[in-house]
Order: sequence, then C-alpha cells, then structure tokens
Amino acid sequence: MWSEAGGAGAPADRRPGAAGPVTAFRGSILHFLDDPGEIREPTGAFEYFEDGLLVVRDGRVAAVGHASALLSTLGPDTPVADHSGRLILPGFVDAHVHFPQTDIIGSYGGELLEWLERYAFPCETRFANADHAREAAGFFVDELLANGTTTAMVFATVHPGSVDALFEAARDRRMRLVAGKLLMDRNCPEDLREPAGAGYEASAELIARWHGRERLGYAVTPRFAATSTDEQLRLAARLLDEHPGVGLQTHAAENRAEDRWVRALFPWCRSYVDVYDRFGLVRPGAVYAHCIHIDEVDRQRLAARDAAVAFCPTSNLFLGSGLFDLSAAQRVGVRVGLGTDVGGGTSFSMLQTLNEAYKVAQLGAETLTPWRAFYLATLGSARALGLEGAIGSFRPGREADFVVLDPEATPLLARRMARATSLAERLFAWMILGDDRAVRAVHLLGRLAGPRLREGGA
Ligand code: GUN
Ligand code: ZN
Repeated sequence: MWSEAGGAGAPADRRPGAAGPVTAFRGSILHFLDDPGEIREPTGAFEYFEDGLLVVRDGRVAAVGHASALLSTLGPDTPVADHSGRLILPGFVDAHVHFPQTDIIGSYGGELLEWLERYAFPCETRFANADHAREAAGFFVDELLANGTTTAMVFATVHPGSVDALFEAARDRRMRLVAGKLLMDRNCPEDLREPAGAGYEASAELIARWHGRERLGYAVTPRFAATSTDEQLRLAARLLDEHPGVGLQTHAAENRAEDRWVRALFPWCRSYVDVYDRFGLVRPGAVYAHCIHIDEVDRQRLAARDAAVAFCPTSNLFLGSGLFDLSAAQRVGVRVGLGTDVGGGTSFSMLQTLNEAYKVAQLGAETLTPWRAFYLATLGSARALGLEGAIGSFRPGREADFVVLDPEATPLLARRMARATSLAERLFAWMILGDDRAVRAVHLLGRLAGPRLREGGA
C-alpha cells in the first residue's frame, strides 16, 4: 500500500490570504518529491492526500496538504474549487515534441530516414509561411493543454518565424515552454538548409528575443548529427557557452541505419553519442531524444555529464526504432524524461505515452510501475529539462500548473475504476485506458487554461 504523507511543508505564513489573491482546489492530490525507482510500493518519493487541498497564491503553490488541516487557514472569501473524487497532479511535461509535425502525425510506413524524407521535411518546408506557422502553433499549444501537458520542450523548424509563432502562442496562454529553431547545414532539402554561420546568427537573435522572457526558454536545436557539419556542431557549443542557461535539444541513436550513417559521417568518433561529446554538447541542460542504440560507455557519459535523455515510446514503436532500456538508464543515474515526439510519436497524450512506455518495458523484461510512470510524466521530465525548481511538483513556491484527472471520463474507465482497490491500481488504469478525455481541467499558474475545456472543468 502507498503511504499517505502527513504534510508538505506548508509555508511559515499559515494564512495564505495574507499576501495576494488566493484560490484553493480540493480533491485527491498526488505529487512526487523524488524518483520512486523500480520499487513497487515506494514511500517517501511522493505525497498523496486522499482528501487534499492545493492552495495557490499569485499563481504559485502556497500550500498542499490534507483538506482537514488547510481549510481552516483560508480566509472566508477564498474560492475553493471542488474536484472531490478526481485526482489533482502537477501538469504533464513533454520532454520532446515537434510542433510542425502535428500535421503529419500517423503517417503510414517507413523507418526513420525514409519517414523524414517522405513526411517530415516536406511538412516543415511549409513553415516558411508565417501565417501557416501561427495557425499551427496555436493548434499545437491548445492540443498540449487539452492533453494536460503544461510544459514542453519543442522543436520548431529552421525558420525563425516558426519559433516566434510558437513562443507567441505559449506566451498568450501564460504557458511555460522551451523551444528552438532547427539547425541543418547538410543532408536535407535545400530550402531547409542554411550555412552554419547563418544558423548561429539566427539562433543568437532568437535567444536575445525570447530566452528568459516570462515563462519561455530557448534550446539550441541541431536536428541530429547527420544534418550538421563539424562547423555547425562547433557553433552550437559556442552558442551554449555564450548564453548560460540556454538548453540544447537533439536526437541520438534512435535507429540502426541512422546510427550507421552517423558513424560513417564521423569516423573518428567512437559512437553516435561520442560525436556530440567531442563537440562539447553532452552537458547539463542538454536533452537527447531516444538513445536506444547506445552502450554502457555512452550511458555513463550521459550520466557523468549530467545530460538528459527523452524516452519517446510511441515514436519508438511507430517508427520501429527499438526498445529504450529504462532500467539501464536508471542504474547509471542518467536523467530521463518522457516525450511524445509527435509526429513520429502517435499521441499528444502523456497518458497514452505511459501506456506505450509500459509495453516497451514489458518487452525488455522490465517493469514500469505506475509510480515511476507518473513521476516520469511530471517531475522526471521537469528534471530532464532542468526546470524542477519551477514546475513538476507541488512544493510550496512552485508554479501552480496542474491537471485534474477524471476517473469516470469514459464508461470503460469508470467501470475499471470501480474495481480498483488502491491508488496504484487507479493510476495504472488512467495510464492504460486514459487519454485527453480523462483530462477534466488544466490550470496554468492557478488559472483555468485552454479554450477546449469541457463544460464543468472549473
Ligand atoms: N531524427 C532527426 N529528426 C527527427 C525527427 O524529426 N523525428 C524523429 N523521431 N527523429 C529524428
Ligand atoms: Zn524527435
């Protein structure tokens, strides 16, 4: 059985109404304080309040704990939203996703390299058009929110206008988001290619325009080693050196043919991950999507350099890329986040992503407990993005981004939930049977967010 934690470090001021507008949310509340690992019945890694209260002041968590203890601390006029019977969780964090590829989600056939040529590159060329980029960016962030994802690390296209469109869409919704413009200077269609120096300059301009503005952060974004020359990878490292706090996102060791190709392009490197390491790109703040076809040396290197890996199970299965070894990553202590990787991935739902993550673990003769699953989708991904100080848990002071899950979202889910006898069983039902229909409400900085919320999702 899980343990019910006794309190979550309520702030010294026990009267949350004292300094600014306060709202409160009542329901079952779960959040993680640490990685529960593979322990089936962990204690200490999370807090759960069966009848809990989340108190929000000025968009941040003021307190979380048992409703019985906290209700009396509220002022008489404090609004309390009642989500009794539902689960309040920190918002999901998608550690790897491509916003332009929304339009090609679920495109039939081919492994990675063929899929890139047939679908991804042609789709991305359309983002030279600023109107198209704006429309797609708005749809994309609303889709994230409809699925309970309140923060994501996002690839745009090579076009700076696509980054502007995305950041504007996130800013308008007060959403925390990390994104960057693709860098490609070889092995791609000519209209997506630019000289390394031009990509460097455009990235620097975008960093100046957006990084650290409100809730937005920039990530230098070389697509993958195969589409960058030595010079471009060198300049990517220079951008990181020149702009402390800026992140890096790219792909590594996703597919066997891709892996062979990268080794042939960089014959002086020991492995695919070693290519990035030789250019100084394996470092804190870097997020490497996939890392399926890596060995223990690579894994240790990623851990030692404090870089992170984004595990993208729906994409890995859909593109036939392979099975990520979550246990091996856990053993060496590498940071792991969970990504949808739309449009190689097949769902915006982090619940459906967990469903597939569980199956990947099963095929690898491992297991993914519901505890670790929900940790990965929240605090784990926040840690991968270096954002655990801001989001991912309900520790007091964190930004109050959260999702409310409905146990009765569909007749089948309701039927299965009625037979669940523990929180672990309920969590598992949500991750196997749930999707955007289970997302009853999403809040950003304590405020209801998104235009596509169902009636009654206050
Ligand atoms: N590797 C390089 N580019 C991509 C991409 O767009 N999607 C995926 N899944 N892998 C990549
Ligand atoms: Zn990707």
